[in-house]
Amino acid sequence: MCGIVGYIGERQAQPILLNCLGRLEYRGYDSCGIAVLSSGIEVYKDAIRVEALAKVAPQLGGTVGVGHTRWATHGEPSQLNAHPHCDCSGNIAVVHNGVVTNSQSLKKQLTSEGHNFVSETDTEAIPHLIEKYYDGNLEEAVEAALRDVDGSYAIIVLAAGEPRLVAARKDSPLIIGIGDRENFIASDVPAILDYTNRVIYLEDGDIGVITKDNIKVRRNGTEVDRKEHEILWSIEDAQKGGYEHFMLKEIHEQPRVIRDTLGEWVSIGEPAVDLAVMMRTGLEALLLLACGTSYHAALIGKYIVEELVGIPVRVELASEFNYSGQTLVKTGAIVITQSGETADTLKAVKRLKEVGCQVLAITNVVGSTASRIADQTVYTRAGPEICVAATKSFIAQLMVLYWLVMSYSKAEARRLASLLTELRHLPSKVQQVLDNEDTILECANYLSRYENMLFIGRGINFPVALEGALKLKEISYIHAEGYAAGELKHGPFALLGGDTPVVAILAHDNTYEAMLTNIKEVKARKSPLVALAEEGDEAIGELADFVITVPRVDAIFSPVVNSVALQLLAYYIAKQRDCPIDFPRNLAKSVTVE
Ligand code: F6R
Repeated sequence: MCGIVGYIGERQAQPILLNCLGRLEYRGYDSCGIAVLSSGIEVYKDAIRVEALAKVAPQLGGTVGVGHTRWATHGEPSQLNAHPHCDCSGNIAVVHNGVVTNSQSLKKQLTSEGHNFVSETDTEAIPHLIEKYYDGNLEEAVEAALRDVDGSYAIIVLAAGEPRLVAARKDSPLIIGIGDRENFIASDVPAILDYTNRVIYLEDGDIGVITKDNIKVRRNGTEVDRKEHEILWSIEDAQKGGYEHFMLKEIHEQPRVIRDTLGEWVSIGEPAVDLAVMMRTGLEALLLLACGTSYHAALIGKYIVEELVGIPVRVELASEFNYSGQTLVKTGAIVITQSGETADTLKAVKRLKEVGCQVLAITNVVGSTASRIADQTVYTRAGPEICVAATKSFIAQLMVLYWLVMSYSKAEARRLASLLTELRHLPSKVQQVLDNEDTILECANYLSRYENMLFIGRGINFPVALEGALKLKEISYIHAEGYAAGELKHGPFALLGGDTPVVAILAHDNTYEAMLTNIKEVKARKSPLVALAEEGDEAIGELADFVITVPRVDAIFSPVVNSVALQLLAYYIAKQRDCPIDFPRNLAKSVTVE
């Protein structure tokens, strides 16, 4: 979604703000802008990329400023709708992430009081409200204005004649970066990693007042202490490191990510968290909740839990769960969210907590909202994921699920020992998939001319088919659907034919024979067929038009090697079609609105 930054210090604000905005590009945006305090507030903004803004913006001299990358929700991407937004006098500038849900009524009221609105945005109400309440004390004016605002926000406010920034949040992330005689505010850690790795996470309801030497956080009029965190990510982690795209770099990082995420748990055999303690109900039922790719990790988690623990697992899309009429039973829940900020997922966590569920969060972002509102958190160690499409964070989520489940499993000791050995070898298995990149590239060239594609799998590889299709559609814009292979004949068969290739994902488990039957059915209907199959699988060579081999692993781990192969396939198809791989149109890395 949108990204926001603020700087106050001794250096010129403009180049720093633009650099921070550049680091936020991965969140997705369609316009951007900055405001700098010099003799008055100077604003420069447009519906252009940050790089273009840096070229065309005049020098706005000043050492305090704010910046924004906007992802349009209220009003088209345009110069007028871009942030920062100002009050009538131009003395107050605001950047905002989130949605002001009562903006229409605020606008009506403020207009009747003489305020003149120039944009179609919900945000513009905020500077006008601050102007209305401002009588010399900016913090109090911001506090008063926010009392009138419904919805979600992370805001930074800059005011003429005020050598400080005021920031506030509700249901949208905001951090303060601590520097030396300078401080930063941002919606996201990578924005400020060039300057500092010391951060404070603001909480909902906090108001931060930041000068170059001082940070003060207030809540309901009283000053509060907020802990300082050290971020272990480096700026190199958030750079391309010689790869053409972040996505390719992040795919290639996965052997390291698996090792880091499993870390010392696997070598010392420690559970990541004690599931038994977490689940007050004694693990009679488990609810897994997530959105998008994280939801696919949750679906794979269901197969792992059911096989190794043998309890029923319900998997829900957080966005749907929030609107289901079911009574929430007191059960254990695991929420999976790489960003830790997905609005639907956070809403689900809050609902679960209200009825007394124990919630474990799996997230990649230290200090994220999910980590703060869940009862327990296990962090994936993927490092910053910049490409909008999730790759390494997904594989890291699977690693946490494997380890959580294996450390709780009552499966036979010999089976667990063998799985543990395999888990230790997974980084090298994934490396073998990466080493097969040329074959995958060849397959991508073969597939890239088609406009529709089906991905099929069974059992634990059904969610892999969903994820393969999602990855392809989001970065290549090819229409792709994932199906449980057995479902093809219940409708999608109508689509089969020479124009609709099918990618079949196999594993050597009890689904193998049924998959071969489905593949024969597909071939009989003349669809080009690509198979992902284990090395040594000779039967498939005779059926498929193209085979991508993956190393042999226990079927429970097959989603890992298969997903990595599908990530590369999607990447190379998108590259062949010249798509903006890291920042697909209309998508955002962190979906902080419902
Ligand atoms: C797809 C993708 C999204 C996210 C989804 C949930 O590649 O990245 O589908 O998985 O928006 O995001 P998190 O995991 O941050 O809750």
